[in-house]
Amino acid sequence: MVIAIDGPGGVGKSTVAKGVAAARGLAYLDTGSTYRAATLAVLRSGVDPDDTDETTTVVASADIAYVDGVVCLDGERVGAEVRRAGVTAAVSAVSAIPQVRRHIVEMQRDWVRAHGGNAVVEGRDIGTVVFPDAAVKVYLTARPEVRAARRSGDPEVSGNNPCVVARELAERDRKDSTRAASPLVPASDAVIIDTSDMTAAEVIDRVLALVDEAAGSDEDV
Ligand code: DC
Repeated sequence: MVIAIDGPGGVGKSTVAKGVAAARGLAYLDTGSTYRAATLAVLRSGVDPDDTDETTTVVASADIAYVDGVVCLDGERVGAEVRRAGVTAAVSAVSAIPQVRRHIVEMQRDWVRAHGGNAVVEGRDIGTVVFPDAAVKVYLTARPEVRAARRSGDPEVSGNNPCVVARELAERDRKDSTRAASPLVPASDAVIIDTSDMTAAEVIDRVLALVDEAAGSDEDV
């Protein structure tokens, strides 16, 4: 069973996806980290992320893997490095390129296949494009000020000034939602949960109830 958890930054996707995966003993894939690793490869190569052809070539030859909850680039664990400001600033440009997305989406589908087709997958287009047949689709939202506060409290985010974080989130939302290829939108059959006034545990419980419901209806068939 694939459980798709989509939404913009700062809504609590990672916390919720990890919590759901732990509660059900499922594998967890953070797809944002795969786009971040692709972006790190581009930055390291010195190629301009706005140069579509060159960027596509670099990403196609990069070895991006996701092992034990950590993203790797060419055999190196880069989980912390991909959260740095330089990568965050360039990731929307790299992930907007359709050829890059095709390549990375293939890698994500292979990863889930290798985990027996059972995983909690977090991202922006999981319920719409990567796994349109996911058994459970959740789209998390939260008020912008709540998202900025959560992100600026995240120790993995560099430069955690809430005003800067709020601007960066708004800019990334705009780019991720308006790009032509797989824009950030809820799937028509996703359950939308506004997490602004909920604790992480409450959101996890809500998603687990959806998982149990889906598992139950699977058994009925
Ligand atoms: O979840 P995150 O902030 O680590 O994601 C980083 C960027 O990667 C995000 O701004 C857009 C892109 N992304 C995407 O295009 N599709 C996904 N499924 C996940 C992330």
